Amino acid sequence: MKFFIDTANLAQIKEAQELGILDGVTTNPSLMAKEGITGTNNILKHYVAICNIVDGDVSAEVIATDFEGMVREGEILADLHPQIVVKIPMIKDGIKAIKYFSDHGIRTNCTLVFSVGQALLAAKAGASYVSPFIGRLDDISTDGLNLIDEIRTVYDNYGYETEILAASVRHTMHIVECAKLGADVITAPLSAILGLLKHPLTDSGLAQFLADYKKGN
Ligand code: E4P
Repeated sequence: MKFFIDTANLAQIKEAQELGILDGVTTNPSLMAKEGITGTNNILKHYVAICNIVDGDVSAEVIATDFEGMVREGEILADLHPQIVVKIPMIKDGIKAIKYFSDHGIRTNCTLVFSVGQALLAAKAGASYVSPFIGRLDDISTDGLNLIDEIRTVYDNYGYETEILAASVRHTMHIVECAKLGADVITAPLSAILGLLKHPLTDSGLAQFLADYKKGN
């Protein structure tokens, strides 16, 4: 399973990259705003800065919601760096744009996906990644992980190559469950990734080993 970090924070991206397990980064306009990155030029420069830290795909989202606008913005984003994947919302013109980019060799990430039907359309249009938002489904008392399971079944039924990128991951167990269900990628906050390290028996076992070593030395 690929690990992406879901942030526009350069320090956190560096920390995950230095851990040696990072395969990519996802951003969105809210994550950019959270870091205080505003204005088109600054946003474009920030994408390049992220690409220069990480070895892997970096999702950069279009703001336009019409086909022509998405194509115009997506081409600018794709020209920034070979690692850029153009993030397109799951709307009617978005599907047209994903098909256009697929036909023109530009990779896409279809975002804001909340149903199997939407994921099916994204794959039909040729999206490189589909991003089901599991945490936001959980927030409205709907099982987000079940959506990952259903998309996996449908994609496997037809051999779609679109990668399932589990997004809106809120905690460590989401990552573990997505791995069990066969998600191709998870994108998570650094805290959820680092949570995978933790086990109290590791901590107490290590403390004991170190204490025993000190007794004999
Ligand atoms: C990733 O591509 C999404 O933008 C992100 O995971 C959304 O997460 P949120 O629901 O925590 O905002």
